[in-house]
Amino acid sequence: MHTPTGPAMQAIRLTKTFRSRAAVADLSFSVRRGRITGLLGPNGSGKTTTLRMALGLTRPTSGSVRVLGRPYDEIAEPARHVGAVLDITGIHPARTARDHLRIAQLTAGVSPERVDEVLLAVDLSDAAGQKARTYSLGMRQRLALATALLGSPELLVLDEPANGLDPTGIRWLRDALRSYADSGATVVIASHVLAEMEQTVDDVVVIHGGRLVAAGDLQDVTLGAPLEDAYLGLLRSFEEARRAR
Ligand SMILES: Nc1ncnc2c1ncn2[C@@H]1O[C@H](COP(=O)(O)OP(=O)(O)OP(=O)(O)O)[C@@H](O)[C@H]1O
Ligand SMILES: [Mg+2]
Repeated sequence: MHTPTGPAMQAIRLTKTFRSRAAVADLSFSVRRGRITGLLGPNGSGKTTTLRMALGLTRPTSGSVRVLGRPYDEIAEPARHVGAVLDITGIHPARTARDHLRIAQLTAGVSPERVDEVLLAVDLSDAAGQKARTYSLGMRQRLALATALLGSPELLVLDEPANGLDPTGIRWLRDALRSYADSGATVVIASHVLAEMEQTVDDVVVIHGGRLVAAGDLQDVTLGAPLEDAYLGLLRSFEEARRAR
């Protein structure tokens, strides 16, 4: 149903103002399909707000953001096309992982076998009968990712997914995202963990104060420098340019 070409996500002059403060300001970028794109920026730079607007959870003040070629609200059966992990606080503490996934599976309208498939994919099969309140932070992250994967979405949107994962979990997440992208899916991931992002992403979108700082192929943006150095350098130049205006 969706055109398989064109950006997987595209923001055009996207703006969100909370009271009189701009969280996202005149932000335009596009995300290439079949690639992993890192959305980078300091605390409060508008990453989560941008992703929430992309997922139809927050209405833009002006401008627009499309996913898979259309506004999120116009996607029929969105769980089959877009999977997201924005915050993991919504998991009911008294439910087991399997029950949580069964409810999500029914809501998404996908086959019941997907529950065990995604549990296996995130390495939670053995803990699937435990109540979520007994889960560690990393286990909750895995459960949230499993939920996002239920509909085998073409686009996966993750906000700080490595938060709480141990080194084994981080390696596993990186490999899982890579094979997911290799299968043709698109991943958008917001994170501060630059060393990790450097090893994971193909493209970056750097924002600051809700505005675009840089975007493109990782190598083109960093010019071969370590991502952390390039990122801090870009932010410094952006700040200086803003002060000079
Ligand atoms: N519901 C809201 N009401 C008022 N202000 C908000 C709301 N949500 C976000 N903001 C503000 O918008 C700005 C951007 O916040 P956002 O959460 O998008 O940043 P972020 O880049 O995701 O930060 P972090 O790296 O800390 O996750 C911040 O100044 C924040 O205080
Ligand atoms: Mg955030």
